[in-house]
Amino acid sequence: MVKTGRLSGKNDSMNQKLRIISIVVAIAFSCSAGWAQRVSKQTQMNEFVTALMKKMTLDEKLGQLNLITPAARTGPFATKNATAKMMDGSAGNVFGVLGTPSSVHSKLSLADSSRLKIPLLSGLDIIHGYKTIFPIPLGLSCTWDSTLIERTARIAAVEATAAGYNWTFSPMVDITRDPRWGRVMEGSGEDPFLGSIIARAMVKGYQGKDLKDPTSLMACIKHFGMYGAAEAGRDYNTTDMSRLSMYQNYLPPYKAAVDAGAGSVMCSFNEVDGIPATANKWLLTDLLRNQWGFNGFVVTDYNAVQELIAHGVAADYKQAAQLSLSAGVDMDMVSESMIASLKDLLKAGKVSMAQIDAACSRVLEAKYKLGLLSGSARQFDAARAAQVTLTDENKSIAKLAALKSFVLLENKNNTLPLKKNTHIALIGPFANNQREMFSSWVIAGDVKSVVTIYDGIRAKASETIYAEGSQVNDDTITIKKRGGSFDSLKQQRMIKEAVDAAQKSDVIVTVLGESSTMSGEARSRTDISIPHCQRELLKALKSTGKPVILLLLNGRPLTIQEDLLYTDAVVEIWRPGTEAGNAIADVLFGDYNPSGKLTMTFPRSVGQIPVYYNHKNTGRPYLGKQEYVSSYMDQYNSPLYSFGYGLSYTTFKYSQISLSDTLLRGTKAKLKATITVTNSGSYAGEETVQLYLNDPVASVTRPVEELKHFQKVFLKPGESKQVTFDITANDLKFFNSNLKWDWEAGRFVVFIGGGSDMVKTAGFVWEK
Ligand code: NOJ
Repeated sequence: MVKTGRLSGKNDSMNQKLRIISIVVAIAFSCSAGWAQRVSKQTQMNEFVTALMKKMTLDEKLGQLNLITPAARTGPFATKNATAKMMDGSAGNVFGVLGTPSSVHSKLSLADSSRLKIPLLSGLDIIHGYKTIFPIPLGLSCTWDSTLIERTARIAAVEATAAGYNWTFSPMVDITRDPRWGRVMEGSGEDPFLGSIIARAMVKGYQGKDLKDPTSLMACIKHFGMYGAAEAGRDYNTTDMSRLSMYQNYLPPYKAAVDAGAGSVMCSFNEVDGIPATANKWLLTDLLRNQWGFNGFVVTDYNAVQELIAHGVAADYKQAAQLSLSAGVDMDMVSESMIASLKDLLKAGKVSMAQIDAACSRVLEAKYKLGLLSGSARQFDAARAAQVTLTDENKSIAKLAALKSFVLLENKNNTLPLKKNTHIALIGPFANNQREMFSSWVIAGDVKSVVTIYDGIRAKASETIYAEGSQVNDDTITIKKRGGSFDSLKQQRMIKEAVDAAQKSDVIVTVLGESSTMSGEARSRTDISIPHCQRELLKALKSTGKPVILLLLNGRPLTIQEDLLYTDAVVEIWRPGTEAGNAIADVLFGDYNPSGKLTMTFPRSVGQIPVYYNHKNTGRPYLGKQEYVSSYMDQYNSPLYSFGYGLSYTTFKYSQISLSDTLLRGTKAKLKATITVTNSGSYAGEETVQLYLNDPVASVTRPVEELKHFQKVFLKPGESKQVTFDITANDLKFFNSNLKWDWEAGRFVVFIGGGSDMVKTAGFVWEK
């Protein structure tokens, strides 16, 4: 049948309308079905937990608020009588149980002796892998690859759950601007935007699609909050900052991890606005629960309830427990103040049964969500543990993550990559060491499976001589405070041996920096250079006249300006993990072209700290040779290497930015910013194209630039690609003086490039 155009047009438009209506109805139905399903799951959980709590005595409830540890691996002391406490239910949760999967399982089964047999939350600091170890988090963040990071967290979860753990104290999402702080190695650096992306990825990786899945580990967001801002970089020190800075710079990654559904939050050791986080109701209840809608449980950090006494807000452990519970803490890590005093506090009317019940139910809900309360879901399967641990696939991801985490800092005269027939002198105290490829946060990692740098290089280059060359540290105060020793005669012998080896080779590859115990918790340093004895070795090596390649092994940005005088190429390798040697050999010989970009600024000197890319302009910015401006007499303002910096064996050229518009209006407008990137060198390589924005006039001062988008492009030599970013009004938003997240009309500057200080610029106006 032939229809007239007019009629068929009418029918078409009716059909179209019907289709749209039915799609809308279907979406509404499926949304409400999803919503109904969530509500019914929540109701089931509530009913289950309420019924369980009806059976529980007060002591049993208090046991659920208690987290103990049988060994003092990550803190000052262990719990006494841990076994008995797990058996009688006075400790409902444990962390740091180590052993083979079957011995861990049998220790966790101790809870079966308790009256209600409620399974334990079994935690561990799985920070960058369980048995297969990935690069330290700061290194991982330099990949700018959230998919890969999520994958590393998933592997850690699969391996760790098979061994009996159901809870990890990760991700650490503290923003850090001070490399003196030893814990910068555990986080993703200085930027809240990138930090938020990584925080989400890690939570997703650990927790999987459903916490009930036996391969899911519950994540714990830490350390809430602002722990990374410890004054002078001294661990556990006071933090003090404006609310504006908290909201703008420090809180976003915690919030992102909450939004990603993390099941728990660990409060930090430091104070926030004069009240320690552990006792801070504004932080733990008003902000976290009421504003952000967090519905998991809050655990303290190690002994932090007791530490309220030293902070000076509690007279004794009883008052400390009262303050913590009232602030919103649900679980006491190791201090046992809550279990020791909540009964008395209840009798005295200082805490209520409702508060205890709320905390207990949150802990039980976590167990319910993990499937621990439904019997069979997480039964021990020895075969699975063997099958999923340290597999070839896990190691290949560890290698990829290491490769992508390396940052090429210097490459004078294209010293790198090396030819495979080069005679190499491999020198340094970490070059032939398995444990040193890990960090102080590797608790269960398999040291024996680590490929050392020496082995990795030898597998590719036939002629490699190795010499240790130096002891690690000759700093007298460190030795006095932390133990260790330094022998100057031995040092002279070691340097001589290294120089002899160097003289027989074409090129020197030296691995220097920090030992694994020099960064991490309680490892703050005031001098963040390569220890003096190692620098002496470096100088001696340079004096041979051979090219010197420095592989920097460390957990924080170091002050290496002077070392650059004695090197031809520098690669930041962080602490690379299980596949260290294989990954390093690939980079040295050009089988992989480094693409990592720094996520934390490298200062020129300690006196510049804190130095970070998203700083403010000040009223007297330094613009060259001037008096009475914000600058140092004896140092430049600029850092040695800025956020986003990282070289490649090839070079990338950027065109000018082309904007789809220069005048935009309203919240719905969209601006396209396009740039062409060309591989102008002779190696194929990956570039991370970064987009920053600046809002030059606003109601509160704004940073000189802020990362808003990035994309990765892979380009063959000579190849060009257009990279387009969509900028929306959302990208212009910031916290104003009422702490409202909003944007203001006006002029903006966009920067695009391969680093925060290597950019092209363009401007646009956005009106309301
Ligand atoms: C103290 C650390 O601050 C925290 O990050 C860690 O998870 C706990 N100890 C448990 O080991």
